[in-house]
Amino acid sequence: MRVLINCALPYANSSLHLGHIAGAYLGGDIFARYNRMVGNQVLFVCGSDEYGTPITIRADREKVPPKQIVDLYHEEQDRNFKDLDIDFDIFSRTTYKEHADLVQSIFLELMKKGYIEEKTTLAPYCEEDRRFLPDRYVTGTCPYCGNPSARGDQCDECGRTLDAQELKDPLCILSNTTPVFKETKHLFFRLSLFQEKLSQWVESHREWRNSVLQFSMGFLSSGLKDRPITRDIQWGVPVPVEGYGDKRIYVWIEALMGYISAAMIYSKKVGAPDYWQKFWREEARTYYFMGKDNITFHSIILPAILMALGEYNLPDYIAANENMNMEGKKFSKSRQIGLTVNEVLRVASKDYIRYYIASVLPETGDTDFSMEDFQEKVNSELIAKYGNLVHRLTSFASANALVLRTPLQPDQSDSALLSRCEESLNTYLGHLEKIEIKKGLRVWIDLVQTTNAYFNEAAPWRLLKVDREKCIDKLSCIYRACQYLTVMAYPLIPSASNRIWKDLQGEGSIESSGLSKLKASFTGVILKRSEPPFEKFAIESTNPNTLDLRVGKILSVAEHENASKLYLLTVDLGERKINLVAGLREKYRPEDLTGRKIVVVANLKKAKIRGHESQGMLLAADDGQNTRFLTVPDDVPAGSPVDIGEFRFNGKEMVEIDDLAAFKLGIRNSGEGLAATAELEGSMLTLNVRGRTVYPERDVAEGARIR
Ligand code: 2FM
Ligand code: ZN
Repeated sequence: MRVLINCALPYANSSLHLGHIAGAYLGGDIFARYNRMVGNQVLFVCGSDEYGTPITIRADREKVPPKQIVDLYHEEQDRNFKDLDIDFDIFSRTTYKEHADLVQSIFLELMKKGYIEEKTTLAPYCEEDRRFLPDRYVTGTCPYCGNPSARGDQCDECGRTLDAQELKDPLCILSNTTPVFKETKHLFFRLSLFQEKLSQWVESHREWRNSVLQFSMGFLSSGLKDRPITRDIQWGVPVPVEGYGDKRIYVWIEALMGYISAAMIYSKKVGAPDYWQKFWREEARTYYFMGKDNITFHSIILPAILMALGEYNLPDYIAANENMNMEGKKFSKSRQIGLTVNEVLRVASKDYIRYYIASVLPETGDTDFSMEDFQEKVNSELIAKYGNLVHRLTSFASANALVLRTPLQPDQSDSALLSRCEESLNTYLGHLEKIEIKKGLRVWIDLVQTTNAYFNEAAPWRLLKVDREKCIDKLSCIYRACQYLTVMAYPLIPSASNRIWKDLQGEGSIESSGLSKLKASFTGVILKRSEPPFEKFAIESTNPNTLDLRVGKILSVAEHENASKLYLLTVDLGERKINLVAGLREKYRPEDLTGRKIVVVANLKKAKIRGHESQGMLLAADDGQNTRFLTVPDDVPAGSPVDIGEFRFNGKEMVEIDDLAAFKLGIRNSGEGLAATAELEGSMLTLNVRGRTVYPERDVAEGARIR
């Protein structure tokens, strides 16, 4: 069978975090490996989503061209996937020319067929910036749930798609002024024409996950409206229609076509330009992996476009996951909650990460990633149960020079184990076929436990002296069970299982021949003594950064009642407010400080300074003449952690004022302007908030000390 697996194209605007991996990509990869292993012909596709407002908002904020942002993150995300063994056949880009060509030709075809129509609409226009605003450039209050920071396209709180016009108290995110609504022309996709057909189609997919069915049916029952598919933006695929030079095709419409263009580009690359058609136009099963906020685009918009075009396979299954939270909190880029892939790879191997996330995939409801549970599950299941089982087998067989072969005279318990293996394998494959990965993993770990229990009961160390042949039979059964377990582990932890397969003297790759090996008899198997397959997993902090540096926002400034150099500040640190005593009174007026972003040492032991408690320390640079507080761009939220180079605060303890000297905090010129630096383990590193440099508020001489 042919199986097309498409994973939602991640926006190339930020680092991937574990929430993304759990939401779409790990499941997609496990499913792809499962399918290849059972002999299906798989095309596994993903790519970077590189156009639209998610990119331009970030580029505007950082004052760099959008291409610079997408180049950076495309490369990083591509590497992250490889580092996690998430092995797409192609990780494409929507900025490829082939993609734009395809999107434009599809656009024209939809027009020709009468599915696109021009309408005059009211669109938000910012008089300050003198431009129409794409919907994500407008924020306001959600008319449905009252969330004060809903966007013009969607409310992240209640999940509804919105029109900028519906927002209460709309604001332009660039100028912070109220936009006016002006008439402009846009091209609309006539989604309303598909009400009937889509309803029937969704109804016919009762096997879909509940959340997907509910979301889609809810969307359909409120009535499909025609949707504008052009936008007032420059960064996107041009609209191939006269009069639309200053507009672009809406990024979502264009990105969905990225699945097809990626398959085409892959086909060209492997020298079979029509290969993609086997998956898109001929008999094939097609699967889509994504987070739940993407459902309607895949269950309504994409199929409508494909129906309009004709001749394309509609989605067979939409594997949308719920959220995996991080220690109880929602992953959030802006609030810096959650681990990025880069961060977790620094402390754990890919197999550990895959195993744990697979065990907490949010397939049917929200789940939680916790560091403690991560270490506990990996150590107690993967290492202590499976790794140890394999190691006991190889050690015992090699130490006693036992040559293993298909059991000659299996007794009842041997046969029971062997049929249990076969049963478990079938149940496991059945779960994977239905993308119930967590259930599959439980079946696997149960079989590990059964095999361990069999090992203990068989007590081959006793048999060895009295009945060597029987002992070999027992060990051979364990060997067979380990083969099953290792083949079953392959989709979950491919690198580790391929390694263990070699320890079990397996030939070839599990993916291409593992399953058939389980059916074949074996003889003359001499296992070598090998190292335990896994190292114990402990996240030890080798991180030398003992400073909890945070971005703060000054809320109020008061003069100390009798110390003429001191101010009393209240500072917002995001989750809490603190009071600081700061010696800035000779250098700044209160109004120069109020509302400003500063950098604070937040884990300084509390001190009484001239009768007032200071719960931290404001960092300022002093060159002997001028004193300047350290700051960050204004859109960095209060509470954001400030890293020293790559090092985030190691979370350990409080520091004393004298400890600060060791960090040699100072101002250097990085070539791109003045930057605050600190020394850690002999290197000078820049203070930054996720790569954005901390700098003195105004010029100060290079070499100034920070205190
Ligand atoms: O939510 C996202 O990250 C989108 N970039 C997903 C796009 S999926 C499809 F259109 F490619
Ligand atoms: Zn809402």
